[in-house]
Parts: sequence; C-alpha cells; structure tokens
Amino acid sequence: MTTLIEEVADLLSRSSKTIALTGAGISVESGIPPFRGKGGVWEKIDPMKFAHIDAFTKDPVSVWNVLIKGMKDLLDKARPNDGHKGLARLEELGILTSIITQNVDGLHQVAGNTDVIEFHGSFIRHFCSECNRIYATTDIKMTQIPPRCDCNGILRPDIVFFGEMIPPAALMRSQQLAETCDVMLVVGTSAFVQPAAYIPVIAKQNGAVIVEINPESTPLTNQVTDLALMGNAGETMNRVLGEIEKRIS
Ligand code: OAD
Repeated sequence: MTTLIEEVADLLSRSSKTIALTGAGISVESGIPPFRGKGGVWEKIDPMKFAHIDAFTKDPVSVWNVLIKGMKDLLDKARPNDGHKGLARLEELGILTSIITQNVDGLHQVAGNTDVIEFHGSFIRHFCSECNRIYATTDIKMTQIPPRCDCNGILRPDIVFFGEMIPPAALMRSQQLAETCDVMLVVGTSAFVQPAAYIPVIAKQNGAVIVEINPESTPLTNQVTDLALMGNAGETMNRVLGEIEKRIS
C-alpha cells in the first residue's frame, strides 16, 4: 500500500511548479519559538502593546526593549534546519520555484532558496522611520535604545507590525503564484492570520493540490488541505525527500 509520504513524493516528482507557504513552525527546530500555542511569543508578550505600529510610534523604547532586542538575539544565532534545507533541495531539483514566507528570519535565503517572498517583511534589514535609510541589522549598534539613524530618526525593523499593510508587491506576487502553481506546500503555519491564510484557498480554487506539514491540525486541514502530513517540518521533509531522491537516482 502506498504511504502518504510516498503519495506526496510522487506528486512533487511530477510537479513542475510547486510553491511553499511557510510560517513560524518551520523555524521552531532552529530555536525560534512560534507565536501561538504553548511557549509561543504571544503568550508572554501582548502583541497589541508591543507589536502594533501605534505602540511603536507612541513608545519605541518599550517596543525595542520588550520585542525587538529579544528577536535580534534569537535571530543572530539561528541557522537553517532540515525543514529549510529540504525546501532548498526541492528548488535545486527543479520542483519548487518560490517560497511565500510569513517569517522574518531570512533562513530560507540562508538555506539557498532564491525566490523568497517576505510576506511580513524581514528582520534582516532596519530602516529609519524619518528618512527611510536602510541598515543591515548586523550593522546596528545596540549602545542606545532605540538605535538611531545618522539623521537622528528612530530605526525600526523592516517587518510588518500589526496595523500595517502587507507590502503590495508581496501580496500581488503571492496571489499570482497561488493562481498558477500545481502544488502548494503549506509548512508550519497555524493559518490564523489573514491575508496569508487565504493563499492556499486561492491555490486550491485554481486547481492546485494542497499538502500541509504540521504536527497539529489547522483551520485548513479539513477544509482545504488534500494531503496532511502530521509531523515536524525537519523530519517530515527528510522523509519526503528520501522518497523523491529514490525516484531520481
Ligand atoms: P503560529 O505561531 O501562529 O503557528 C505556528 C504553527 O507551526 C502551528 O500551527 C504549529 O502547530 C506549527 N509547528 C510547531 N512546531 C512545528 C514544527 N517543528 N514543524 C512544523 N510545524 C510546527 O505562526 P504563523 O502561522 O507563522 O505575524 O503566524 C502567522 C503570523 O502571526 C506571523 O507571521 C506573525 C504572527 O502574528 C506578524 O508578526 C505580522
């Protein structure tokens, strides 16, 4: 009898345009906690107080001290895990063309994926809230909080705070990809946050097969997902890739 892993491997081996939508779960095995659920960031920090654009505008010192400094420490140390590496290998094999990620950690690019749409921005860069000058996060000195630009404007990460718009180019391109892919891999997202959670729905409406990798079920699992691989991203990607490599060797 064909296993679910084999079924997904067959599907991916035949696919000419697979797209991945990823969320915080794919980076958990890199030591970055998710947002929701047990041990999640929003269990400790109220996002409306420390991750909303109005909070940043009103009290940037607190947002820097409570949210941004901690993120910088975590992300500085994080390295891609087998989940990220598996998606990079799928691109190398000519199966995966693009990743739409809700993550701001830049780990897909470090793993080797070349077309990554940063739906919620990126922590790799900061910009000045006065003159918009861009800074590499690694160049930012933490000697004063909040760090400031040469023009004295306050620096902020290039991430989408609550209350801000999704970058229009990312939104448009994600929609186009969802409309034209034949398989969508949905990895490590709770699918609670819109409009990202709607991307698999668009793909499904346009005929794509939806494969979900997550140890828990989500609002997509019973309504949108065709094949649900219930497990951690790293181990599951290794198993799927093991089967794909057998088919091409
Ligand atoms: P969540 O924290 O909401 O969900 C993480 C998902 O990962 C859950 O469904 C977990 O079951 C799953 N998970 C946990 N460990 C995993 C593992 N090892 N492998 C695979 N999956 C695992 O994260 P997102 O869905 O990414 O937005 O959250 C979406 C957005 O909400 C974030 O981008 C962020 C947040 O507020 C902004 O900051 C704008």
